[in-house]
Amino acid sequence: MVTSLRAIRSDITKLQVDAIVNAANSSLLGGGGVDGAIHRAAGPDLVHECRLLGGCKTGDAKVTKAYRLSARYIIHTVGPVWRGGDSGEPALLASCYRRCIELAEQRAVTSIAFPSISTGIYGYPIELAAEVAVKTVRESLAGDSSVREVIFCCFSPEDLSQYERVLNRPIL
Ligand code: AR6
Repeated sequence: MVTSLRAIRSDITKLQVDAIVNAANSSLLGGGGVDGAIHRAAGPDLVHECRLLGGCKTGDAKVTKAYRLSARYIIHTVGPVWRGGDSGEPALLASCYRRCIELAEQRAVTSIAFPSISTGIYGYPIELAAEVAVKTVRESLAGDSSVREVIFCCFSPEDLSQYERVLNRPIL
């Protein structure tokens, strides 16, 4: 079956999906941006579970329950800090998307929402990050996957238009 990929503009904490992805830092103990919003919405039990995980490396991901959110899982991933693009940032960002899809499939997740990982506080240019996000998710879903719906959840209209540009381009 074909998986639908689409971009929307929303607060990711409000979405009705099986799994939402958090753009976390390597401590997994919360922060600003989407991480702060997810921790606030999920409630204090989330940080208690996160403390047991022993952090997370850049490019990797770890799963928790979603507590007060309507999702079943939160998949916490740590994107790269943008340092000009020659420090392995594209490969690390791709690894985030790949690991999130892998962990989602292990839990038979059918719908997943991603924020625009690394493009806020971590400074990754949105036009480049959107390319990595869409390409990597498409590649990761190439086999038989439980994931039927992928939402790229954007916070600003500018980010949404970047994702739409990439998603609407013919696949070569
Ligand atoms: N829903 C969807 N997207 C959001 C929301 C929300 N509620 N809030 C912000 N965004 P950022 P990063 C967008 O900075 O660049 C944290 O402190 C935001 O506009 O959240 O990966 C962590 O603890 C942007 O487009 O994540 C780390 O220390 C996107 O989410 C660090 O920030 C990602 O921006 C991670 O930085």
